Amino acid sequence: MPNVDSQLDTDTPDWTKVVPPPLGRIDLTVRQLLKFGVSYLPHRPDLGSFIAEADAGFERFLAHVGDGGREFAYGRERPDDVDTGLIRRRGDPAVDGHYDNKDYFHFRYELEQRPAFHEYKEWFFVCTAILDECRRCVSEFVAELQRQLPTHKYAHLFCREETRNDDVLRIIHYRQTRPDTKIIARRHRGRAGVVLQLWENYPGLQGLIDGHWTPIASSPTHFLCFAGLKLTQLTGNAIHAFDHEVIHVRDAELVQRRSMIGFINPLGTDLRLPTHNYY
Ligand SMILES: [Fe+2]
Repeated sequence: MPNVDSQLDTDTPDWTKVVPPPLGRIDLTVRQLLKFGVSYLPHRPDLGSFIAEADAGFERFLAHVGDGGREFAYGRERPDDVDTGLIRRRGDPAVDGHYDNKDYFHFRYELEQRPAFHEYKEWFFVCTAILDECRRCVSEFVAELQRQLPTHKYAHLFCREETRNDDVLRIIHYRQTRPDTKIIARRHRGRAGVVLQLWENYPGLQGLIDGHWTPIASSPTHFLCFAGLKLTQLTGNAIHAFDHEVIHVRDAELVQRRSMIGFINPLGTDLRLPTHNYY
């Protein structure tokens, strides 16, 4: 696994590998993403403590709602609004015949307003700060992308004030991945505009780059950033949605993988799809 932060101390930017470009070189982030479908975006230095709090908050929430072992949406208002709130998943088929086994929570800004969640104000305060930071980073990134790829007009669709309600922070806790399970999350492409992997407690993400499955290391100082299908559509196929999966990298261990993902969406697109279609 390469040292993904070694780039930060070098004078010569290298955008030819999937490593974090030097700070202040968002132009290189865009070039990497155009070349590989994945790159890194630097985030505010104190974000790690927010992420740890948000992750711990989810564990407390799970303990509070109990383990019914069934799929449900917490705070659901519309019959088709199944990807809001807590989603408890059991038995999601994976390509190797085993199954995803995870709980995840979809935080949206609008959840703050729901009476059912009032006792989780502090947790949601932290989630809001994280999602705000995702949005700030993505709007900078998309503005630079627009400069380098001006054939289509899409940057205004990611304007921070305009798109609040379409964005999602997903906190995932997988449950006791079996040591013989090779695939933790089966191969897929994101449906959102820009997908950020904020954090993971174990490595395991890998992506299809030039026809090869390539491990993509996370970074404590950067978001992993990749294009989803919505951005592919907006850019007239100039950017390919990143084809990725999560594999089990610790052979003899029973691993409880946890991760956090931000889905940042362009204005005016309704991506509230059924959960089995939403990645
Ligand atoms: Fe994904």
